[in-house]
Amino acid sequence: MRILGIETSCDETGAAVIEGEPGDTKVKLLSNVVASSLSLHAKTGGIVPEVAAREQVKYIIPVIEKALTTTNISQSTTNPSIDAIAVTVGPGLIGSLLVGVETAKTLAYVWKKPIIPVNHLIGHIYANWILTTNNSQLTTTPLEISNQKLEVAFPAIVLIVSGGHTDLVLMKNHKQHRWIGGTRDDAAGEAFDKIGRLLELPYPGGPVIAKLAEKGNPKAFSFPRPMIDSSDFDFSFSGLKTAVLREVKNQATINDLPAPRVGAESETGRQGHRLTANLSASVQQAIVDVLVAKTTKAAQKHKVKSMLISGGVAANELLRHQLEVRSQELGVIFFAPAKNLCTDNAAMITTAAFFHYKPLSWQQITADPGLHF
Ligand code: KG4
Ligand code: ZN
Repeated sequence: MRILGIETSCDETGAAVIEGEPGDTKVKLLSNVVASSLSLHAKTGGIVPEVAAREQVKYIIPVIEKALTTTNISQSTTNPSIDAIAVTVGPGLIGSLLVGVETAKTLAYVWKKPIIPVNHLIGHIYANWILTTNNSQLTTTPLEISNQKLEVAFPAIVLIVSGGHTDLVLMKNHKQHRWIGGTRDDAAGEAFDKIGRLLELPYPGGPVIAKLAEKGNPKAFSFPRPMIDSSDFDFSFSGLKTAVLREVKNQATINDLPAPRVGAESETGRQGHRLTANLSASVQQAIVDVLVAKTTKAAQKHKVKSMLISGGVAANELLRHQLEVRSQELGVIFFAPAKNLCTDNAAMITTAAFFHYKPLSWQQITADPGLHF
């Protein structure tokens, strides 16, 4: 069975083709194309929904065409040899979602194929069920390669950490999953991005803070670990942003420095650079500590056999490493997607559709920006 999938929930336009047979424990990725309007949003320091939607319109057809023609399944985009079309129906930005959903419906009508609607968050989880070995399209690390041969054993705890979501989900099998906790305010990625903005770093802040943190001291500042000891599985990251703002102002007063900047050359600039690296390392450690503590607690309470991460923040090296260490201590198997499958892509959406194969006709599909689990 082959499925073409489409993802347009935010600022990435993605199309992918996967192949699998009933009973397969992982799917084969035949193509995975992503076009991003991130650089446009970097100029405004955040995503402007209308700009994102207009870019989706620009990219959607070329991206789908490339996803179909780079596989050797069919050179034809007029009647490709696929069995179904998967599409993200929510949550996300309505303008962006509509581009993918309406394109999927049109193709389903013309090609006479069924559609499988996919929840974007469930999609993130399924980045962990894609075969990554010998796939030049993916950036794999030794961890992913060694875990390729392993199957996810249930029950599994999944930490979804993205720009819009921080959720813990307990999976009993492919059919049964239960949301057990999530953020009460900012998502982890959102916290990284907002703190990046107040440190005057380029958008999105997450990967930039992670890079700067490599040269910083994670113990330089002791930022709060919000809700780390609470008895539930909820998170809160908005207080952390306020604490960093207070520290930035404090440091500027002590050192008579302007707000820390990256790349400045003078002595003042160098001090600012060191300060930014220390702030970055300390912030990253605070966020990771909370995510690791809560995920570990959930794994213990529910006696899971596997621990999975997904979402854009799952690309964070420190988070991956610390969760892997905790998993080993607990005796559970740890899974993390290839890094380029952590951020938004259609491969994960298409894989989710494979494991939740409920084909519908195009008339039954609508975008739902507020979709929950
Ligand atoms: O999953 P995603 O691509 O989009 C959403 O569905 O939100 O996640 C994007 C988020 C951004 O907040 C970005 O800053 C964060 O993922 N991110 C990272 C890293 N790479 C991306 N955060 C921390 N460390 C990283 N290496
Ligand atoms: Zn996402």
